[in-house]
Amino acid sequence: MMIKTLRGMKDILPDEIGIWQYVENAAKELFELFGYREIRTPILEETSLFVKGIGEGTDIVQKEMYSFKDKGGRRISLRPEGTAPVVRSYLENNLNKKEALVKLYYIGPMFRSERPQAGRQRQFHQMGIEVIGSDSFYVDAEVIYLMKAYFDRIGLAGYTIKINTLGCSKDKTGIKKELTRFLKDKTNLLCKDCKVRYKKNILRIFDCKVEGCKALLRSAPKIIDAICGDCKDHFANLKKTLESLKVDYVVDPYIVRGLDYYTKTAFEATHPNLGSQDAICAGGRYDNLVRDTGGSKTGACGFAIGQDRLIMALGSKRESEKALDLYVAVLGEVPYKEGFRLCNGLRINGVSSDMDYQNRSLKAQMRQANRRGAKYVAILGEDELQKDVIILRNMADGQQREIKINNFIDEVKKLKC
Ligand code: HAM
Repeated sequence: MMIKTLRGMKDILPDEIGIWQYVENAAKELFELFGYREIRTPILEETSLFVKGIGEGTDIVQKEMYSFKDKGGRRISLRPEGTAPVVRSYLENNLNKKEALVKLYYIGPMFRSERPQAGRQRQFHQMGIEVIGSDSFYVDAEVIYLMKAYFDRIGLAGYTIKINTLGCSKDKTGIKKELTRFLKDKTNLLCKDCKVRYKKNILRIFDCKVEGCKALLRSAPKIIDAICGDCKDHFANLKKTLESLKVDYVVDPYIVRGLDYYTKTAFEATHPNLGSQDAICAGGRYDNLVRDTGGSKTGACGFAIGQDRLIMALGSKRESEKALDLYVAVLGEVPYKEGFRLCNGLRINGVSSDMDYQNRSLKAQMRQANRRGAKYVAILGEDELQKDVIILRNMADGQQREIKINNFIDEVKKLKC
């Protein structure tokens, strides 16, 4: 039987790769304009990094990690997200010793063993940024502005930016207590999942999508009313700054996010083309993660764009097969040898070239040249070899001329200029 990809994992085929390269190149360019530098961390990490960072009671840690023991008996996991590994690397490599404010970006696959559905895969791809080293609301504003600027740059329309505040860790503890008190005698009204969340991760009840839970929460204590003055100011300043940057946003008091490390700002961008899995980007501030990973208390903020969902939302295909500069068509064994040498010579001189390795007729080779969008075809048979020339055919107007073999590469290079 044929072996297939694992459930929830996909090949990205050459015909689809154009749009992936486009969104990645645009991200790299813009992130770098904003002063971010690329970091690549390993795909495998110690499981404890995620348990500590993302939180013991979260769905990711409880149900979704690909975790196993390696041959040395160490508990390791495929990374389900990029923030905890970036923070680990920041600390391990003392990145803060070189610069007080460290701005990093990453692009790569993440793994979560969730039930696959449209927009939800077990291997998916994120493009993320992290700013480590500041408590300033200007950082939150920069991060959200960069997300918007990126969407605009790649031509994504129709997205909504939703922001919220969760307060500092002290505020979060207070809110958890208030919510527990409020829901204590109403747990029978909660959905099955929220009954578990009530015990393990009560704040997540806020972003439950089930109507009954949503209705119940409308009369629950509001996070914004329960947070301290500092956190309120931070949120007010962020909103004002976003307005000055002309970022349209809505405040969604029910965003809490599925990772425990968030403090103060939490945000999402959603897109209407995506159905129930509609978040194309999510992020926020995480002021305790550096300390909880073994460093000192350090303000930080970031986001991750779900690349698979972004591409679904863009809904466009990009031409990925690049047209060939020149196709080498050969007839006969000796011309084949000469054509092969020539084809490789052209390539290393910056002329994209290809040829047939299947001994097909000249007609079939010309058809192949057309399919590949070749601008020129070099035709080389026994007759040409005897005359020491190659025929160069311009595919746009059908004009042909003979060029001496020794001059051929130089002549073709001139055509490219
Ligand atoms: P997250 O909300 O778990 O946050 O993931 C960010 C984005 O990744 C989501 O909005 C979504 O677009 C995409 N995503 C997540 N899970 C899947 C999946 N199973 N299939 C397809 N796409 C998915 C984080 O990962 C945080 N590390 C973001 C962050 C960076 N916060 C601060 N800095």
